[in-house]
Amino acid sequence: MHMARLEADVETILFRREQIERRVRELAREIAAVYEVEEGGLTLVPILSGSIIFLADLIRELPVKMKIALVQISAYPGATTRAGKPRTIMQLSGDVRGRHVLVVDDIFDTGGTIRAVHAMIREHQPASLRTAVLLRKPAKAPPDVQVDFVGFDIEDLFVVGYGLDFDDLYRNLPHIGVLRPELMP
Ligand code: IMP
Ligand code: MG
Repeated sequence: MHMARLEADVETILFRREQIERRVRELAREIAAVYEVEEGGLTLVPILSGSIIFLADLIRELPVKMKIALVQISAYPGATTRAGKPRTIMQLSGDVRGRHVLVVDDIFDTGGTIRAVHAMIREHQPASLRTAVLLRKPAKAPPDVQVDFVGFDIEDLFVVGYGLDFDDLYRNLPHIGVLRPELMP
């Protein structure tokens, strides 16, 4: 069987590579402005696996000394677009006690994932806790979970690309888009 072409499965592109690049650069400036004036060390906590592309682009625009501690959560196991209960696949890989923590994720949807990660981090008593997400679906975002930096607000659509997956596929698509409906349940 031939390797399937990625772009052929995408119905609509919401954000093109160049537009994402520009927004990530702006976000990095907003974030740098906050941490430049804080005393003490910064640790980024990217949530695997969706945040990897955003993280890689963001941190290279952040001229701030930082450590990185990974955490892996799964809320959409397998071929589904409906959020389940977030499961911790990998505990925090570094010590964040007394550190300024910036959680980084691809998307803020029902907020279950970030709520779980916030609870995990608070147990370790960080100096501060903030969160940056590339995308947010405001229609679903719950009032009890705060995020501090948002790239783009989007409609309640299931999107892929730039780290976001469907059934662990499409993370390497350089744009963010919506799949052809026949490919999703
Ligand atoms: P939440 O827990 O409902 O906020 O969902 C957050 C997690 O679900 C994110 O870290 C994503 O990995 C995944 N997710 C939510 N919405 C989408 C989507 O539209 N496309 C791909 N993944 C999504
Ligand atoms: Mg994720």
